Amino acid sequence: MTREPAGLILARQILFTPLGLSGSGRRRYAAAMTLFEAGDIGKEALEIYRVCSPLDHEDPAPLLTAAGLSLPAEPGGGDLARGLRLKVLLAECDRYLATLPGPGIAEVRAGLAPALAAEAEPLASPHGTTNAVVSAHLATALAALETTHPELAAAIAASTGDLEWITYGEYPPDEIGADFLTGHAYAELVGPAAAIFAEDYDLGLFLIGPDILYRDHHHPAPELYAPLTGPHGWRFGPDDPLSIKPAHHPVWNPPNTPHMTKVGPVPYLCIFGWTKDVRLPASVIPATDWPELERLRIPAA
Ligand SMILES: [Fe+2]
Repeated sequence: MTREPAGLILARQILFTPLGLSGSGRRRYAAAMTLFEAGDIGKEALEIYRVCSPLDHEDPAPLLTAAGLSLPAEPGGGDLARGLRLKVLLAECDRYLATLPGPGIAEVRAGLAPALAAEAEPLASPHGTTNAVVSAHLATALAALETTHPELAAAIAASTGDLEWITYGEYPPDEIGADFLTGHAYAELVGPAAAIFAEDYDLGLFLIGPDILYRDHHHPAPELYAPLTGPHGWRFGPDDPLSIKPAHHPVWNPPNTPHMTKVGPVPYLCIFGWTKDVRLPASVIPATDWPELERLRIPAA
C-alpha cells in the first residue's frame, strides 16, 4: 500500500480548520490549492474555496454539494495525521511564545527548535484512558483562549485526543494535598517520555481545575509557565503574599526557586517548558497558610 504524502494529509487537515477562526477561509483556500495541484480536487471546487476565502464563517461544503461536487475526505485518525497535528500544535506554541516578553522565553524556544525543524513522524494513538481533569476543564479553558488566540486554541483542541494526559502521582499526597493530586493533568509534547524525544528538555501543556492550590514547591529544572488563561495567583516564597497575574503573563522560575500557583475561577491552562535537569524530582515546601489559600476564591477579571 502506498502512503499519501505528508503534505497532502496536512492540506486535508487544514481544509477542515474549524469555521469562524480568524484567517481560516484563506487557510482553507491555500490547502485547496495544494489539493488541486495534486489532482485531488477539480477547478470548480477550487473556485468555491476561492470565493469563500475572505469569509471565515462560510462553510464551503453546502456550496460544493449544490454544485454537484463531492466533498473532500476528512482526514482520519492515521498515525501520520496525528504526527502532523502535533507539528501544527508545536508551531502554534512557538508562534505564541515568540510574542511573550521576559526571561526564559528564548531558552524554551531554542530547546523547541530541533523538534520544529524535524519532519513530522507518525504518532501512535495514546492507549491511556480518557483523563477526567481534561474532560471536566479543558473545553472551558479553550473557550477563554479562543477569544484572543483562536488558532492556538484550535491546535490544542485538534491534538487533545492524540496526547497522553497524565495526572502526576509522585508527590506525597499529604504534602501536595488531595485537591491538586486529583485536579491536574499534563501532556508532554517534546521530552524524554514524549512522542517527540528530547534527552533533557520538556515542553507540554498543563491543566489545573478552577480554584485549586498548587502548593509551594521547587525543583532543579528551570521552568517557564506561559499561562493561556487567567487571572491566577502566584508567589515565590512560602508564606509570602499572593500576586494576581492575568493570562499571557509568563512566569520564569530559575532552578530551585520556590513557587506556588492559586488557580482563579477559570481553569489554569499553560504551556510549560523545562530547559534542563528534567529528570530530577520536585519537592513540596511547607507553608502555614495553605488552608486559607485553599478556601480563597480569586474574582474573575
Ligand atoms: Fe514548578
